[in-house]
Amino acid sequence: MQAWVIGNWKQNPATSHSVNTLINDLLTAISAQESTATDSATHCQLMVAPSCIHMAAVSSRLQGSSVMCAAQDISAHSNSTGAYTGDCSAQQVADAGATWTILGHSERRQYHQECHDILVQKLTHALAQNLGIVLCVGETQAQYDAKQTLEVLNTQLTVIKDVLDQQAGEQPGFVEVLAERLIIAYEPVWAIGTGKVPTVSEVSATHHYIKQTISSFSPELAAVSVLYGGSVNAGNADSFAADSMIDGALVGGASLKAADFLAIANAFTCAKG
Ligand code: 13P
Repeated sequence: MQAWVIGNWKQNPATSHSVNTLINDLLTAISAQESTATDSATHCQLMVAPSCIHMAAVSSRLQGSSVMCAAQDISAHSNSTGAYTGDCSAQQVADAGATWTILGHSERRQYHQECHDILVQKLTHALAQNLGIVLCVGETQAQYDAKQTLEVLNTQLTVIKDVLDQQAGEQPGFVEVLAERLIIAYEPVWAIGTGKVPTVSEVSATHHYIKQTISSFSPELAAVSVLYGGSVNAGNADSFAADSMIDGALVGGASLKAADFLAIANAFTCAKG
């Protein structure tokens, strides 16, 4: 099965100049790697999610490479245009070169009060514009301590069920399309940017639960990839990659250094190859 390693650049880098440097470093390292053989593209799909403002420049630099481009968010209000100051729609990010979008990141849930109904709208808008979706789920430290992880995930995953219930009746073949365009990223909030990580067996059991839950919505969703995110780095990627339940990584801080990002990708390439 193909692995995914996705770099969520968040609100980084600060300048277009630094964005260019990061992309140049990434493309140079990838082409050096490709020239010394390996079929990394076959086993590990790379994707980066720049800020909206850098999307067009990044996607144009990535044309012709194997690296795909994702948005970090899209508007909940319209998939196209409208009087929604500050928003970027699914159509606009797709036009700028994104083929996927991250949705429901814990930083969006925390700082922008992104809730269930908003996420149902965003998923629907993304699919209407043919964008793939990386849906983030995960518990807080307090929820982890209270052993509520599975309960929290169960609630967060109902977004998928609601989108299916709304769309499947109206659009024949909808569930097959969703199965191809959906990735789940399990990101415990307490592991993001902290250097703290759950054990591989904890992640593995949680991913098993996520896969079971979404398969219960529709058997077609059984093959949806589930990635782990939260303090993944070049040093610990091997251990996550070795587990059959972990289909890739959503990487924050370490994706801002091309060498570290590719080291994580190589860990998944080796493990899943
Ligand atoms: P870090 O890798 O910096 O912990 O961030 C993870 C994340 O939030 C990716 O979306």
